[in-house]
Amino acid sequence: MSARLPPTATAFETVPQVDLAAQYASIGAEIREAVERVMASQQFVLGREGAALEEEIARFCGVAHGVGVASGTDALILALRACGVKAGDEVLLPPFTFVATGSAVSALGAKPVFADIRPDTYNLDPAECARRVTPRTRAIIAVHLYGLPANMDAILAFAKDRRLPVVEDNAQAIGARYKGRPTGSMGDVACISFYPTKNLGAYGDAGMVVCNSPELAERLRTLRNHGQTAKYLSNEPGWNSRLDEIQAAILRVKLRHLSAWQRSRQSHAAEYTRLLNPCPGVMTPHTPEGLEHVFHQYTIRVEKRDALQAFLAGRKVGCAVYYPHPLHLQPIYASLGHKTGDFPHAERAAQEVLSLPMYPELRQEQIARVADCLQEFMG
Ligand SMILES: Cc1ncc(COP(=O)(O)O)c(C=O)c1O
Repeated sequence: MSARLPPTATAFETVPQVDLAAQYASIGAEIREAVERVMASQQFVLGREGAALEEEIARFCGVAHGVGVASGTDALILALRACGVKAGDEVLLPPFTFVATGSAVSALGAKPVFADIRPDTYNLDPAECARRVTPRTRAIIAVHLYGLPANMDAILAFAKDRRLPVVEDNAQAIGARYKGRPTGSMGDVACISFYPTKNLGAYGDAGMVVCNSPELAERLRTLRNHGQTAKYLSNEPGWNSRLDEIQAAILRVKLRHLSAWQRSRQSHAAEYTRLLNPCPGVMTPHTPEGLEHVFHQYTIRVEKRDALQAFLAGRKVGCAVYYPHPLHLQPIYASLGHKTGDFPHAERAAQEVLSLPMYPELRQEQIARVADCLQEFMG
């Protein structure tokens, strides 16, 4: 592919980073039918659609139980609480993630303790966990960032030795596999976000916790509904955090398409990598042997990231930085007293990562145009 495109219409077309309208154009009729079904039932909370979605997602993730909640953030808060995390406890997590992974810990009055990431996968480095664990550590959160599973064998072995529950933050990686096992099936509990731009996105906020333990599932059902064990009888303080029937019905439609969408994402990623690998100075995503990446994001690394992003914006190519500020340097965690240099791999990633346009409906010529623009910038 040459660095200069002929002046075709494609050369002037905007390539968005994500295009939900393209997806709606292909499944709109199915979605409207599902929403109409809920309207006809006039049952909006804790009904048949939610229960069916819980079963279907649990099956998809290869676990016994699913508990629908109002968001991925709530899924994390409730999962941590169900695992026994309370005020004053410490929870290990990577500093390179969406802030919700940390704020869920803080919401319970517990302390996030950061462990640096691997520079090649952007996921938690188990060796770093060993350096940061203390007698107050009560749980560990493994984030499967961008759709790539974390190093679960090492994380599970580390947690088992210390009898720590493992919470998978599977907000970005539903459908991914680690040595054949689905993400969400390996930890004690796993948390899913159905935020609209996720690989399986609702038309609003929604989330789910999945697990194998019937006791944990029961506890989560209680916690999401005011701590009620029977109608109007509460055993402990809980939340109002339920996944509503309209979102559940929409998600059930979209779940039927998820595997096909995933294959499209993977083939777009392979095409990007084929076009970009000869491009010096661009590091394409690394998928370790035996892992299946679902490319919630296709994230490259370049030293002059900000200049590249501005250049691509000028060429009407949408890109995004997930995430520009590692958690330990965010104002929310100023009181923890961290400074630049504490987690060098997270800090460097925050300066260099750039997520290119990625969605199932992306077209071959759009990918080629993005790659051309990148090659033009890199010279
Ligand atoms: C890694 C990660 N954890 C947690 C969340 C929180 O999910 P939600 O936005 O559904 O609350 C997100 C979603 O943005 C996420 O990407």
